[in-house]
Amino acid sequence: EVVSELLGLSQLGDRLSAHLGVANVIVVAGNSDEEEWVKQELGRACMKEIQAIATANDVLAVMGGTTLAAVANMAERNETLASTIFVPARGGLGEKVEIQANTISAEFARRTGAAYRLLHVPDQLSEDAYHSLVLEPTVKDILEVIKSSAVVIHGIGDAQRMATRRHSKDLFIETLEREEAVAEAFGYYFDAAGKIIYKQRTIGLQLNELEGKYVISVAGGKSKANAIHAFMKHRPSDVLVTDEAAARELLQHK
Ligand code: F6P
Repeated sequence: EVVSELLGLSQLGDRLSAHLGVANVIVVAGNSDEEEWVKQELGRACMKEIQAIATANDVLAVMGGTTLAAVANMAERNETLASTIFVPARGGLGEKVEIQANTISAEFARRTGAAYRLLHVPDQLSEDAYHSLVLEPTVKDILEVIKSSAVVIHGIGDAQRMATRRHSKDLFIETLEREEAVAEAFGYYFDAAGKIIYKQRTIGLQLNELEGKYVISVAGGKSKANAIHAFMKHRPSDVLVTDEAAARELLQHK
């Protein structure tokens, strides 16, 4: 215990990288459950990773959430990024406008000088509406841009908390409980073993389309350790940007 206390953040990242099978883990100090500045540090660290990986004219797909909003807030004008295009990775997921993927991609673009494209899809899509929407020329067009993305940046949330935040029906929340869902990312819900329990119907990047893309996950706070663990079981990302509280908790997981 004492030894682990003494470990520096970069060593903590290396240990977690081996533990989760994630190639690169960046750890910032603190616990973002408790202090707002920690989320800003997650944002800063994540922005550094984006700058390091992006190349001219790349398409960068982003998800929503308060953590991604913090990343966008740290974006600065940059020559390479100014030649890129930011797009939302997936359509509406029932979030408030400030933390929707559309809003966040526009904010990244505004701050870096990049271009952006929006994906206008309602949150609750019937099966019929879904099938006709994907055939709409303007939607088809942006979907192709999204699928061509080289870099994907996304958050991870606790399943119950995300379902509540999206005002999901009680019946659905009960299903998540019964199926023991612990994580949410990209509109998908996962159990502790990383198995997909449910997928929200919206268009955009599907989880099985991440192959060949550079995936950056950003999520912190001790309360998100189970969710991060479950998502990495499903599919280890190329980079995980997290905080110390989540990292220490994650190292306790088998
Ligand atoms: O709804 C978008 C989303 O990225 C979810 O996929 C994820 O679970 C959540 O936001 C994370 O939100 P926050 O960063 O606010 O915890």
